[in-house]
Amino acid sequence: MSEGQFEHEPYDRQAPLSAALAEHPEEHPDPEPIPQTRPRPVLVTGASGLVGTHTCRELATRGWRIRALVRDPEKAAGRLAGLPVEIVTADLRDRDALAAVTPGMAAVVHLAAIAIERRGQSYEDVNTAATSTLLDVAHHAGVGRFIHMSQNGASSSSPSRFLRSKGIAEDRVRESPLAWTVLRPSVIVGPEDEFVNVLARLVRLTPVVFPLPGGGQARFQPIAVRDVAQAICVSLDRRETIGGVYAIGGPAPLTLRQMVERVLVAMHEHRVLIDVPVGILRPLVARAARVLPNPPVTPALLDLLDVDNAVSDNAITRTFGITPTPFGPEELRYLGAITAREALRSLFTR
Ligand SMILES: NC(=O)c1ccc[n+]([C@@H]2O[C@H](COP(=O)([O-])OP(=O)(O)OC[C@H]3O[C@@H](n4cnc5c(N)ncnc54)[C@H](OP(=O)(O)O)[C@@H]3O)[C@@H](O)[C@H]2O)c1
Repeated sequence: MSEGQFEHEPYDRQAPLSAALAEHPEEHPDPEPIPQTRPRPVLVTGASGLVGTHTCRELATRGWRIRALVRDPEKAAGRLAGLPVEIVTADLRDRDALAAVTPGMAAVVHLAAIAIERRGQSYEDVNTAATSTLLDVAHHAGVGRFIHMSQNGASSSSPSRFLRSKGIAEDRVRESPLAWTVLRPSVIVGPEDEFVNVLARLVRLTPVVFPLPGGGQARFQPIAVRDVAQAICVSLDRRETIGGVYAIGGPAPLTLRQMVERVLVAMHEHRVLIDVPVGILRPLVARAARVLPNPPVTPALLDLLDVDNAVSDNAITRTFGITPTPFGPEELRYLGAITAREALRSLFTR
């Protein structure tokens, strides 16, 4: 793909090539050369989040100029320091603000979403309605490409409000006239994540036993955030991914119990793992979510710890050519630095 194509040949998501590849996702397309200069920038929503910061770093490495859409410019300036990004401040729910920042963009990488409802934001407003608005303004602005970060398990018919909000958003992307690609990762992990770090903080706060919701039997397929960022960039560079929906995950499924065991090894800790039915934990978690300024888990997220999140058809190597990073004690060594004091403080400050 050359930038000339961005300028003069808008993507045709109905093109026979993309249709054929969408039907035969097991085919491994030849990589196209990565252009060294990119005349038009890419808009990244959620740029100061976990996936956003890694994605901006990877995009910059590949020669992209970046317009980073964030809510908190100070936080963004810290997280994106040293990267060639133009920071624009906007709430995703503000149509006028989105309409002002999309013209001139070669592509949109849509990462912003919420997993915990805070500050008067609902899943439906942020994850679903704002995605529709962004699709609309991007289409009107003539944006060529739209990379959408969905979620493994997202479905418009999911009983989970969170997964439903992401599923409806994904449906809207797939119905849109834009040249889209959808990524559906399992849980994303890295030194700044809010999953493994939460497990590690809870380990520090529970000195003898560690409760496993539903016995820790639900399976996950943790994928390293840098592998996700690379998959996003490969999607942008390969026309073959247009119209593709790709589940991505780490090297192998792991139960929550296995993940906690690896976290304990990485932290040089021992705990007795006890099975606790989700029904027993839910009222405790609901109470904690009401009184704590920054609850580690909400009832909605607790329910997801009991739902299988393994990836059935992992595209990370086949389509994106990425060897996924293992979820091992070596890769998790950074968790050893979390102290009980920090773990306690995290409950009160965000
Ligand atoms: N993390 C995972 O395990 C995982 C797994 C599968 C899929 N995903 C998907 O991957 C994407 C990125 O997730 P992440 O882990 O990077 O999440 P994250 O760290 O929470 O980042 C999300 C970003 O969205 C921004 N945001 C939220 N509401 C906004 C609003 N109203 N207006 C503008 N920006 C808003 C947040 O801004 P602030 O910084 O101001 O809060 C944050 O920077 C999401 O779509 C998520 O559903 C994540």
